[in-house]
Amino acid sequence: MSVSRRTFIGGVAAALGYVGTRPDDLLAQQGRPAAQSGTPRMRPDSDYDSFAHLSSNENCWGPPDSVMKAMNSAWKYSNRYGYPDGNLVGEIAKHHGVKTENILLGAGSGEILDVVSLAFLAGGKKVLGVEPTYSSVYQRATSIKTSAIKLPLGKDFRQDMNAFIKTAKARESEIGLVYLCNPNNPTGLIITKDEMKQVLDGLPAGMPVLIDEAYHHFVDDPRYATSLPYVLEGRPVIIARTFSKIAALAGMRLGYAVASAENIQKMRPYSIGSINALVKWGGVASLKDTASQAEVKKKTGDLRKKVSADLMAYGYDVIPSETNFFMVHIGRDVQPVIQEFLEKKVMVGRPFPPMTTHMRVSIGTAEEMDRFTKAFKEIFPQKTRTTAAGV
Ligand SMILES: Cc1ncc(COP(=O)(O)O)c(C=O)c1O
Repeated sequence: MSVSRRTFIGGVAAALGYVGTRPDDLLAQQGRPAAQSGTPRMRPDSDYDSFAHLSSNENCWGPPDSVMKAMNSAWKYSNRYGYPDGNLVGEIAKHHGVKTENILLGAGSGEILDVVSLAFLAGGKKVLGVEPTYSSVYQRATSIKTSAIKLPLGKDFRQDMNAFIKTAKARESEIGLVYLCNPNNPTGLIITKDEMKQVLDGLPAGMPVLIDEAYHHFVDDPRYATSLPYVLEGRPVIIARTFSKIAALAGMRLGYAVASAENIQKMRPYSIGSINALVKWGGVASLKDTASQAEVKKKTGDLRKKVSADLMAYGYDVIPSETNFFMVHIGRDVQPVIQEFLEKKVMVGRPFPPMTTHMRVSIGTAEEMDRFTKAFKEIFPQKTRTTAAGV
């Protein structure tokens, strides 16, 4: 690479605050400083709006009018502590057919993942999960001086339930929590309802299981189902949900856990409880606006299928995602490729070791996806695909 080109890329990366190679976009997504995050972090002086934002699985369309209206009507509480909040917890409980004692709010589901980690990994217990996945729980484990037992993904990048059961049984006394991301980030692949039953039946009795359903609303595959009924059955399951994805409220920070009253009590002392007035009202409105969510799901799915088909026709395998992102097999190390996309004003996902020859791409607007496809075709040559088309 010539010096001038290197300088230019370095300049773009610096303007974005893009630092390091650590596989971690968690802190940046949570709006917290990440010491060595591998994700572009926006600084106030950066050229934010000129980039196609395909790196953090956000909802590019933003909240619908119903939610904006509800949030705007809550400004009048901005100087208060105790104020009417639209009965958010009650509305979430009603939405899922549980009691309010089964709900814990978080500033994003990121806070929920933190709270669950702190509550269940205390005293050096380990978390069992796969790699790659959303690494928030693993990072929290490290920060409290414990660690994760990471299983490789199985055939076709799917999570292997037999491996979970076998390892959980063999290392039961070490494990405080099992983490299942469904659908998984970064692959976009589901754990089917049969597999979920198999793993929950097969794990040692009483072992807590955190099921992260951040991308639940995007799934089409009829073999998938939410694991919420397992909470009602009295299993030691904690479900994490977020308003950041389908509801487009990532910047407003709202998520929640659904679990037994006993587990919620165990988690509550670790929760900060700092949810702002606007998003409380926005959350209530969002739960009711199912039509807008259906529209987001449809637009996202249509764009994902179109871009995936384009890339496949161009010779590159795409993992068939059920979410608002997908992975394409680029066949070479993704880190420098991320920089090349940045140079073309397109932000794509960070590396997800060990899948470092795959690139994760979030679904943006049609215009952003056109910019992505154009950049992709400039960076990569057309190929005749030799491997099977996806999984
Ligand atoms: C699987 C998964 N869980 C949780 C989160 C945290 O999101 P938030 O804190 O915005 O709810 C994300 C964010 O990308 C995610 O991908």
